[in-house]
Amino acid sequence: MSGVLELSGIAVRFGGNEVLKGVDLSVGPGFTGLIGPNGAGKTTVFNVVTGYVRPTGGTVTIGGERIPAGRPAAVARKGVRRTFQTPRLVAELSVEANVLVGLDAGASTLADYLGLSRAAREARARVRELLEAFGLAERAAEPVGNLPLGSQKIVEVARALAPRPRVVLLDEPAAGLSAADVTRMVEPLSRIGEREELSILIIEHDLELVARLCPRIAALHFGRILAEGTPAEVVAHPDVVEAYLGAGVAAVDT
Ligand SMILES: Nc1ncnc2c1ncn2[C@@H]1O[C@H](COP(=O)(O)OP(=O)(O)OP(=O)(O)O)[C@@H](O)[C@H]1O
Ligand SMILES: [Mg+2]
Repeated sequence: MSGVLELSGIAVRFGGNEVLKGVDLSVGPGFTGLIGPNGAGKTTVFNVVTGYVRPTGGTVTIGGERIPAGRPAAVARKGVRRTFQTPRLVAELSVEANVLVGLDAGASTLADYLGLSRAAREARARVRELLEAFGLAERAAEPVGNLPLGSQKIVEVARALAPRPRVVLLDEPAAGLSAADVTRMVEPLSRIGEREELSILIIEHDLELVARLCPRIAALHFGRILAEGTPAEVVAHPDVVEAYLGAGVAAVDT
């Protein structure tokens, strides 16, 4: 038990459907991958950590402190941020405003409203730094809804990084992206992640990308962790191979 984020015995049931059946997972600094066929319960793991789904059993700790179940604001205060499988941005707001939202830098004084306070200046500088890192600075003023999906997903990652979180949960960030967009997202993310000592848990179906990014991965299937270890170990694990074949996914390639 040495991870920044620790899940222990997490169980979730929706009606009669046992979606997570005692999930243990340890997420340390750097990238950790979470793989598994459709419907395995991966997004539900994120919903539990972020407090949107209250587990029927188990505990979540961040930095050794237990997180109260079902309290999204409390989790956010512990420095946890996420992205969504389908981007959730405010389409008519600018790219810059959407990233600024991630900072939760609520204007509370006139100086804040006018952008004159130190907090407002720092918030803007942080947003600018991220937009530059992700190659989005020229589009900062455009409504985010005008951007193609790949860029929107990159904006979501920038928004998650904005408040310098400790833990970032990325739900299929590369899904639907071109190889060029994946590079535009992943290179700055890796750089910033290392510099800011982030612990990043990434759900991703692109196993080649997962293997490239993540020294450790865990495979989830029907709400149970089937295997964890290096990518080579996990994708070669007989239960993992069977889960993927059984789910109709092409054989796992190392
Ligand atoms: N809020 C909910 N209410 C009822 N059932 C749910 C809810 N959220 C998820 N489920 C069910 O839980 C199971 C796991 O869903 P989840 O979204 O966690 O899977 P996933 O591994 O993220 O799949 P995918 O790869 O398709 O995104 C599915 O059967 C899903 O229908
Ligand atoms: Mg999902």
